[in-house]
Amino acid sequence: MAQSTVLILAAGEGTRMRSALPKVLHRVGGTSLIGHVLEAAKASGSEIDVVVGPGREDVAAEVLSRTPAAKVHVQNDRLGTAHAVLCAKDALASGRDLIVVFGDTPLIRTETLTTLAGALKEAAVAVLGFEARDPHGYGRLLMDKNGLAAIREEKDATVEERKITLCNAGIMALSGNHARALVEAIGNDNAKREYYLSDAVALARARNLNVAVREAPQEEVMGINDRSQLAEAEAELQKRLRKAALDAGVTMIAPDTVFLSADTKFGKDITIEPNVIFGPGVVVKDNATIRAFSHLEGAEVGEGAIVGPYARLRPGTKLGAKSKVGNFVEVKAATLGDGAKANHLSYIGDATVGENANIGAGTITCNYDGFDKHKTEIGKGAFIGSNSALVAPVKIGDGAYVGSGSVVIEDVPADALAVGRGRQANKAGWAAVERKRRAKAGKQD
Ligand code: UD1
Ligand code: CA
Repeated sequence: MAQSTVLILAAGEGTRMRSALPKVLHRVGGTSLIGHVLEAAKASGSEIDVVVGPGREDVAAEVLSRTPAAKVHVQNDRLGTAHAVLCAKDALASGRDLIVVFGDTPLIRTETLTTLAGALKEAAVAVLGFEARDPHGYGRLLMDKNGLAAIREEKDATVEERKITLCNAGIMALSGNHARALVEAIGNDNAKREYYLSDAVALARARNLNVAVREAPQEEVMGINDRSQLAEAEAELQKRLRKAALDAGVTMIAPDTVFLSADTKFGKDITIEPNVIFGPGVVVKDNATIRAFSHLEGAEVGEGAIVGPYARLRPGTKLGAKSKVGNFVEVKAATLGDGAKANHLSYIGDATVGENANIGAGTITCNYDGFDKHKTEIGKGAFIGSNSALVAPVKIGDGAYVGSGSVVIEDVPADALAVGRGRQANKAGWAAVERKRRAKAGKQD
């Protein structure tokens, strides 16, 4: 598809989402709807043009951050899908084939775009259709003995036409030789007074041009108009991502309870226990185990590392090989060296932990002083006793030892012992005397 342009229409208002956020910026699998469409389009090797609504700098920014080479056009008046296509003037003038896709169709696959573009070898217009379980709201494909004759939008369809279940997925390829002439000829003589791109079909037939149809499963071309459809698309995408992970050699005990992001990356022989959530930006290396009820985002889990159960890895976490992060441990913007361990009940933020260091239960890096964040550096092989507070900025040297319950506010040299807590005082016999006294006073209960 080197000689083609994928044109993504994303100027609609998305009112049915009932959201301050533009529809195409809602997410499935941790990526915006338009982000998914852009990824599918990029992988086809085509040029990419996007049409956005007026004042939608946020949508333009999302497009350009993911696809700096994309051209963004603004449709000032939303007069319909054909009118939106006309906004991409250079793409229409270029003579390149055009594949029009909607920005709210996140599950579209690159192969489907390629197949549709391939159909232009035999046709001036190629339409992607699907068998709809409930065709309500979709344009219907009207077939005659020569193939696809026209697409009828719901509002313009007769009762008979509405019974047709073969529907327009909204994805259309137009040959570079005819695209401009066809789209410019589209009028708005219809129930909504809109310029319908779907009218390109009847116009092509009237000009004796061939029209091709390809079909895709409904799951793939599902358009998102409201939050229920957003949830359906999420469920569908999760199915896809789990299957891909299983096929790639990840063991999941209960795949239906594991939630992945579109960009989650797994090595080989990884085990994921039930009820784990992978937010965006997670990389898990070979032989790692993610135990139940853990939540990971923006984190790298090293080879053979063990995370959880009940661990939380926040962005900027990097766990070395064979390191361990156990139950109720939160890690943020921190690196744990190979073999380092934080097994129970800790917060490790803005920190580096040297290899083989051991962080005792209940250790907290106090990284925030109410104004700024500060760093904690823990050296190789250091031992931090349970329930210690490391008040950053602070450095614990290699091989140093911190006594349990310490509040560490000064750097600890390598191999030193730091104890920062009140000294214990034992009063011999005190308890026995006290018991006797209370018994005499008749107060013992
Ligand atoms: C459209 C198709 C219909 C198809 C259905 C599939 C037309 C006329 N109808 O209907 O045949 O079955 O999709 O989901 O093409 N947009 C703009 N500018 C506009 C209008 C729309 O950019 O002026 C964009 C929207 O952001 C959206 C897409 O085009 O991404 C589709 O628009 P929408 O109004 O939702 O079309 P449907 O009624 O769903
Ligand atoms: Ca739609």
